[in-house]
Amino acid sequence: MSFSNYSSHLLRYADLGFTLDLSLMDLPASLHADMADKISRANRDRKALESGAIANPDEGRMVGHYWLRNPALAPNDEIRKQITEPLIALKAFASKVHSGEIATPSGEKFDTLLIIGIGGSALGPQLIYDAVGANSPLRTHFLDNTDPAGIDRTLAGLDLSRTLAVVISKSGGTPETRNGMLEAKTAFERAGLNFAKQAIAVTRDDSKLYKFAKQEGFITTFPMEDWVGGRTSVLSTVGLVPMALQGIDLDAMLAGAKAMDEKTRRDDPAQNAALQLALAWHHEGNGKGEKDMVVLPYKDSLVLFSKYLQQLIMESLGKEKDLDGNTVHQGIAVYGNKGSTDQHAYVQQLRDGVHNFFATFIEVRQGREGDSIEVEPGNTSGDFLQGFFRGTRKALYESGRHSITISIPEVTPFTLGLLIALFERTVSLYASLVNINAYHQPGVEAGKAAAGIFLDLLAKVRAHLSATPKTAETLAAEISADPEDTYHCLTHLAANRQARQTQASSPTADTFSR
Ligand code: PA5
Repeated sequence: MSFSNYSSHLLRYADLGFTLDLSLMDLPASLHADMADKISRANRDRKALESGAIANPDEGRMVGHYWLRNPALAPNDEIRKQITEPLIALKAFASKVHSGEIATPSGEKFDTLLIIGIGGSALGPQLIYDAVGANSPLRTHFLDNTDPAGIDRTLAGLDLSRTLAVVISKSGGTPETRNGMLEAKTAFERAGLNFAKQAIAVTRDDSKLYKFAKQEGFITTFPMEDWVGGRTSVLSTVGLVPMALQGIDLDAMLAGAKAMDEKTRRDDPAQNAALQLALAWHHEGNGKGEKDMVVLPYKDSLVLFSKYLQQLIMESLGKEKDLDGNTVHQGIAVYGNKGSTDQHAYVQQLRDGVHNFFATFIEVRQGREGDSIEVEPGNTSGDFLQGFFRGTRKALYESGRHSITISIPEVTPFTLGLLIALFERTVSLYASLVNINAYHQPGVEAGKAAAGIFLDLLAKVRAHLSATPKTAETLAAEISADPEDTYHCLTHLAANRQARQTQASSPTADTFSR
């Protein structure tokens, strides 16, 4: 560790207040030269993607999230309009909600948002609300799962009469989101309210959700386009509709993302923070994701950033096949929470335990807006936070653990836009370096199909249950099913008051009846 090493490995965008410090990654001086061919390819792919190539070949789709913050880059006028027109409409809608022109059926202003979505249709809005939504005129809650108790817990705390539901699903057919919406609709009805008159949807124009919204008479719908992927949709209508309603400066966030896109559009890795990050990931994990990435923002308002990055990175890079069809099992495992809190949790292992990771610290230079008290002579809480961050970074390095540090001045819509765009681009470039499609998600689709198989079997088992107690094996044989799968259906039914289970010496001997 030396000052000159720090200085020569620092990429500073002074106009953005942003720095990327790779000085503790021990990258070889020849890295850019060694990776020249792969870098050229990544730059070529970036240009092709931004000019409208089918960058997601498996789904035959363009990948256009960069156009969202700079519509002038869109490959044609139709796409440009698909960006600019909803933006005008959603701002107008939000201002009518704020003024009370669009109000509850009883004429009151909405004061709560219930966002229903999952994955890319929830994580971005959750991150943004938590990071910069403190002054929102609408307190926001999320249904992002099909857990009945979780749904009850969220709905129990809400005054539904003043709640605006925002159902977000690009495909419009995601079961968890559909279930959350139907559960919410029932709760509204039980409270004597008309869900549709307090609901809007963000979805593709021909989706099941779109049709449902039209048929039920939702207040309005906002479109979501085919060329925006779920996990890169935070700056599309998916994130912008909630942001507008929450009074978050979405133009500043788009401007932050646009500014970072411009910096990371440079061919020269020495000037391109995303390319440097992608190369650092590649070097650290041998181009095979051999090291996990631990994300440690030292700022409470960025606590969800690790979760957001976990999806962005792992759903994008975690792929079995490369673009040539070879089996590669790519990916980078990402986890994290926040510092200094985690120093009292897993950082012990990071310092002294198994060495299977590198860290990404996010430093926010400003402690708080106003003055601070001295918690001990001369030092504030913010001084301690900085001390813990600097100390941990150094201690990790001293025990041979590498880390990246990204610094921003404060957490604002603009700087959040910078960070989001930085990692979106890094994922794109890394995917090119390792030759994979970052924009499809066959594993997610496979999970949905597997749930469908379980649900079909569950229906059969439920229908076949009788008053006569039977073992899972007997029942499975009667319906030509796998005995263990049948057993899990039966215990699920028993736990939910739809079957009676008599426990015996082992699961094979347990019996079930109606
Ligand atoms: O990134 C993705 O594509 C996924 O995580 C989706 O966002 C998620 O499955 C939700 O899909 P949808 O928006 O279609 O409901």
